Amino acid sequence: MPGRWRRAWLLGLLAACACDGNALAAVQPAAQPAAAAPSASLQVLHWWTSASERKAADLLAARLLEERIDWQDAAIPGGAGIGAGKVLKGRVLAGDAPEAAQMIGVSIAEWADLGLLLELDNVASAGNWQRFLFPSIDALIRHRRHTMAVPLGIHRVNSLFYNRALFARLKLAPPQSWREFEAVAARLRAAGVQPLAQSSEAWQVAALFENLVLINGPAFYRELFVRRSAAAAADPRTAEALTRLRIVKGWGRGQLEERGWTDVVGRFARGQAGMLIMGDWAKAELAEYGQAPERDYGCAAAPGTAGYHLYSVDTFAMFAGDYRHQGAQEKMARLLVTPALQADFNALKGAVPVRRDAEPARMDACARASWTTFARGAAVQAPSMVHRMATDEASRDAIIAELHRFFIDERATVEQAQRRLAALFRLFNLGTQGAPVAQDIDRGR
Ligand code: BGC
Repeated sequence: MPGRWRRAWLLGLLAACACDGNALAAVQPAAQPAAAAPSASLQVLHWWTSASERKAADLLAARLLEERIDWQDAAIPGGAGIGAGKVLKGRVLAGDAPEAAQMIGVSIAEWADLGLLLELDNVASAGNWQRFLFPSIDALIRHRRHTMAVPLGIHRVNSLFYNRALFARLKLAPPQSWREFEAVAARLRAAGVQPLAQSSEAWQVAALFENLVLINGPAFYRELFVRRSAAAAADPRTAEALTRLRIVKGWGRGQLEERGWTDVVGRFARGQAGMLIMGDWAKAELAEYGQAPERDYGCAAAPGTAGYHLYSVDTFAMFAGDYRHQGAQEKMARLLVTPALQADFNALKGAVPVRRDAEPARMDACARASWTTFARGAAVQAPSMVHRMATDEASRDAIIAELHRFFIDERATVEQAQRRLAALFRLFNLGTQGAPVAQDIDRGR
């Protein structure tokens, strides 16, 4: 990146950074079993703070300790990394970058362009990563032909969970289309049950909207969220998705509060709502309530999206610093993609391995459906805008804010929201002239 762009980017970061003291959030050692004294330590910044996420992070810490690397935990609360992104910027600007950070999707390219990340080319080529990673995962961690991040797991954001006992009692089948979704919601409401557990928190509203857009297929989804085409914003399919977003809001009868995602999962687990649409990290959290897939709840693709995979891929990037930590950072990178760690970590996290040679027979039904769908390739995959897979951070924040505004303010019409999205898209694409971005994995077309 030329110097003047880098300076402008850093100034932009400064302006966007909410340096509220969290930037220096306490770094605590993660719970670890006894093992040989560590020979190195790595500070890891991430946003896995729920009970199930904590267990998954602790597993990584324990496995690293077996390699004599001490995981210094810097966990920043906030679903979808809302807080962690800001804290990371603040820390880097203060000259206090962690050695490793959960950094996902397009944000990898943004950081890589600043020249701050450790290139993992040697590890990736020695380990022949390209041979076993899904091609779209390989594309996601590469930037300008260099490997810039380590992939951990694939989450399916278009996951529908439904309460099995309730569905059996009311003789309901999981909805497979929008029409069926509406019909099931009406039946649940008639039985006095809230149809869908949902929060009015901005990123969760936008995540629901992504699911509604995906009903029209990954190609249209990409037009809207990856290419950010003004024509797609004006398209009747966008109008339909916005209208449906309002319809789902109506099912909440004005009771939709701004809850963290773990609370939303809790409401579903306690039977306060019949269905839940969320990334499959919810599955790991449901295990905290003693609930198991197939037995207590069923899982399926969100209505109208069977056969598609709306993904959020978790990745860690390493900060280069003065290269003192490089040996340990590379060791960590090697460990994270091993078949055993991939299988164990993703089983705890609710995600699926990034490896083509994973064993679906060892997965639960939800994970197996996710992994086999993802394995069908780019044509069925859709990168989650909310989870940074589709656009740069600034565009993502602006799109989420716009969708949230539409959701909250009933006076805003569908046409207005479409016009505002189109105007935003024109603005974003001014700089790039609509050029493909890093995660535009079908950029060959
Ligand atoms: C991450 C998940 C995480 C979820 C909720 C997503 O962006 O990919 O690992 O569990 O956010 O915070």
